[in-house]
Amino acid sequence: MHSKLGSILKRWHSFSANPRQLQKKWAGVFYKNESDYLRSISCADCRSFDSSKNACGIGFGTPLRKCVVSSIEAHFNNCVDEHVLEIGFGRFMLAKSLITRSGGVWTGIEPKIPKSVVPTLGQGGHGDAANIPFGDATFDRVFGIQSIEHWGQKVGGRVPSDYGECLKEVSRVLKPGGTVYFDAPIYFHGHEMFIANDLPRIRALFCDELWSNVKIEKWRQSYEPLERYAPSDTVLKQDWPVELVSYSADDLHKARDSVSVYMIAITAEKRIAC
Ligand SMILES: C[S@@+](CC[C@H](N)C(=O)[O-])C[C@H]1O[C@@H](n2cnc3c(N)ncnc32)[C@H](O)[C@@H]1O
Repeated sequence: MHSKLGSILKRWHSFSANPRQLQKKWAGVFYKNESDYLRSISCADCRSFDSSKNACGIGFGTPLRKCVVSSIEAHFNNCVDEHVLEIGFGRFMLAKSLITRSGGVWTGIEPKIPKSVVPTLGQGGHGDAANIPFGDATFDRVFGIQSIEHWGQKVGGRVPSDYGECLKEVSRVLKPGGTVYFDAPIYFHGHEMFIANDLPRIRALFCDELWSNVKIEKWRQSYEPLERYAPSDTVLKQDWPVELVSYSADDLHKARDSVSVYMIAITAEKRIAC
């Protein structure tokens, strides 16, 4: 789809998102349990799948963005009375729209915003996952869309943040019992553990001392009857050689023709007594 039309449709979708309709669409259990922490949403079983067209019913975006949209619809359709912090919000407004329309308060931090724009409750401003400019126990929920994989990234000359420090910060600003949601691509870009599909390592970021009920949803890992989504030449040439240290780049390059980029959504609860 032409990217300009796609971006208009994306904005329109965020602008017109209706929490009540989405509560109906995503009511109940929309995933299959695979293990104590893994859940899967195949395209064939996804509630966004349009069987009459044999296509994803989200009418814009890359295959990955369609999964982002579906997952955000499923997780953020009912935020009544919640204070919710978004980390690395960029320009994608669907979650903000759903949070505010369903009765919650959205606040955002984004490192690309000038430091002079100080975030306040209910507004976006400058901030970083490693240094969240809010007091202890401020939020009911903290989330990031396609952001967590970049926190520890090196490509582009970035100084990587430490995941342990970032998640301690996230825990600090959450109320006891508060929850997190972080989605990220697999076999694509960002820190090597996301490129290499190392789900046990990603799970281990959420240590038992701080977090309970840690789950990882896999969206589109089983993509049939839809098309495979191959890693792009750009990430292969620019990102993989810089990021991949603990895994064999050769093996991943060889796997390139068989793997498909998919999305994970990590959810967890802050332990009451930490
Ligand atoms: C791929 S963009 C996604 C933007 C938006 N959430 C979306 O879904 O379109 C990644 C975002 O994460 C932000 N980001 C990267 N590292 C970050 C960090 N350490 N703390 C907070 N945000 C970060 C970037 O500035 C960028 O806005």
